[in-house]
Amino acid sequence: MKSIRSDEEIQSIREACQIAATVLKRLVDEVEEGMTTYDLDQLGRKYIEEFGAESACFNYRSGSNVFPAHTCLSINEEIVHGIGTMRRTIQGGDVVSIDVVVRYRGFIGDNASTVLIPPVADENQKLIDATREALNYAISFARAGNRVGDISNAVERYIKRHNFGIVREFVGHGVGATMHEAPQIPNFGRRGTGALLKPGMALAIEPMINMGTGAVSMMDDGWTAVTRDGKPSAHFEHTVLVTGGDPEILTIPKI
Ligand code: MF3
Ligand code: CO
Repeated sequence: MKSIRSDEEIQSIREACQIAATVLKRLVDEVEEGMTTYDLDQLGRKYIEEFGAESACFNYRSGSNVFPAHTCLSINEEIVHGIGTMRRTIQGGDVVSIDVVVRYRGFIGDNASTVLIPPVADENQKLIDATREALNYAISFARAGNRVGDISNAVERYIKRHNFGIVREFVGHGVGATMHEAPQIPNFGRRGTGALLKPGMALAIEPMINMGTGAVSMMDDGWTAVTRDGKPSAHFEHTVLVTGGDPEILTIPKI
């Protein structure tokens, strides 16, 4: 089956994930009030290049629309796929989602995190904590013998308890030589349904959670997804390997 990776492929995905995770960590540590999102994107570009990797986002094509930046930077009501620009300066109180996807030796590593710029609003802290914890909870279901719906349902269950809105238009995915491979991993669904998980699957699990409703609008740039109600959104993502035992999170930085 195509979504099962060979040992050699897994080794390459592992390396790509380590680079993606290290670049993301640096951006998370360095983002601050007063930077433009262009500055932050250029920093991402520089770090990715330092590792001899390339951004898998840059020039990524969706129909006739090519993604023009090296990372995805989505502020406040922006959910995912925001484009860094010199016209946007990061401000105190902002909710900044950073998504880093790299290609290294032909394979992909994909991860994202959301950072709060001080002063931090209580409700924003709750939103990002719930999103991070929903991801961690969902990862615990990425075990051989479970199904994709077990992961999806774990996110849904966790988030419904907290009364936030789940984004349904975008989903997690398998990773391999390309960024979006089978299976799709929605952040809602029924337990025991969907593709069977097997050792050797590399899965990008990525809850996108809104403070208000899950409804999405698209900006005129054709990329940036925003909340329809204008309230903030958070996004966390790890690439995870399904093994014969516990799930292995490949995008925890060790290098
Ligand atoms: N993690 C995002 C995703 O899986 C990254 C998209 S990069 C872009 O969709 F180029 F498509 F924006
Ligand atoms: Co992804």
